Amino acid sequence: MSFDLASRLAARRAEHLYRQRPLLDSPQGPEVVVDGQPLLAFCSNDYLGLANHPEVIRALQDGAARWGVGGGASHLVIGHSTPHHELEEALAAFTGRPRALLFSTGYMANLAAVTALVGQGDTVLEDRLNHASLLDAGLLSGARFSRYLHNDAASLAARLDKATGNTLVVTDGVFSMDGDLAELPALCAAAREKGAWLMVDDAHGFGPLGAHGGGIVEHYGLGLDEMPVLVGTLGKAFGTAGAFVAGSEALIETLIQFARPYIYTTSQPPAVACATLKSLELLRTEGWRREHLNRLIARFRAGAAELGLTLMDSPTPIQPLVIGDSARAMDFSRLLREHGFLVGAIRPPTVPAGTARLRVTLSAAHSEEQVDRLLAALGECQALLAPESDA
Ligand SMILES: Cc1ncc(COP(=O)(O)O)c(C=O)c1O
Repeated sequence: MSFDLASRLAARRAEHLYRQRPLLDSPQGPEVVVDGQPLLAFCSNDYLGLANHPEVIRALQDGAARWGVGGGASHLVIGHSTPHHELEEALAAFTGRPRALLFSTGYMANLAAVTALVGQGDTVLEDRLNHASLLDAGLLSGARFSRYLHNDAASLAARLDKATGNTLVVTDGVFSMDGDLAELPALCAAAREKGAWLMVDDAHGFGPLGAHGGGIVEHYGLGLDEMPVLVGTLGKAFGTAGAFVAGSEALIETLIQFARPYIYTTSQPPAVACATLKSLELLRTEGWRREHLNRLIARFRAGAAELGLTLMDSPTPIQPLVIGDSARAMDFSRLLREHGFLVGAIRPPTVPAGTARLRVTLSAAHSEEQVDRLLAALGECQALLAPESDA
């Protein structure tokens, strides 16, 4: 008996689903060097252009000089340092929640929150298009796990009727591969009626959404009662790394006591927390970044409509162009790259079968002229691509 990895890999290639990592040889930003080629990138989640901001870099450098590099141990042993603590307090104030807890990644924050809140005998209900980390968390929890139709409060309500034990409803805030917003007011109402808790992972909403970048809960004006479990990640619009869960005193203490992905891991380097404190300040106060980004979104959508390209119905910096077939999506992405543009093709299983797409993302670091150049390239590549039946 041996593992037949070669056939598994060959099958992945044959299905046009093989993944390769573009090698980035420059900092994040619109203009990148990938595999030795200068390209204009429209695929990062650095929505506000903070990942390579000089003040954030300086905060990281100063933080490393003051606090060293390694976290050294888990938070519960000796890894919880002053920058971590200050960042938690700043994130609690920013989100208007009593407390916040810092994690090294969003994947871990999601595993932690779901598995600490529900287990055997309980129920976890998730949007069918939730991020993989949320779906994995639901499966790992041991609770009864069911997925409701995308953004459909009636479908959720039907499942809530059959739920047993403590029930947690979990949704992306901004759906990562579609760019649309969760219908939180309707989902909240359905959950509250049945005494269920709602958890939102707003990885893609913090920064671009809300008057001060407070994400989907600021957008809809939802407080602690409506949204008891609020997750944000720091590697996207914050431009750094890590994640947080914000909520009540009791929620955060429960995570500290019971969440295994919190307890059994080394804290993130404290200098990263120093950098995030700076990027949080920029994210909150530099409203022009959101305004510019919103202008770019409107410009891109109008230009795409003129070209006859059908974008998904998204008001956020995530502007997917659904292609359908995986091979065709790869061809489109390859052609764009030949024209000097980097736009990722997203294929199953990341998205449902038959909905492969180009996931265009915009950033406040882009200029209007760069967006116009992307539109021109999309127009040219569209014309060069073979008709769908040949794909
Ligand atoms: C919606 C969502 N949640 C969580 C994550 C995971 O966050 P992290 O990259 O910090 O692990 C991602 C993407 O990475 C995401 O898109």
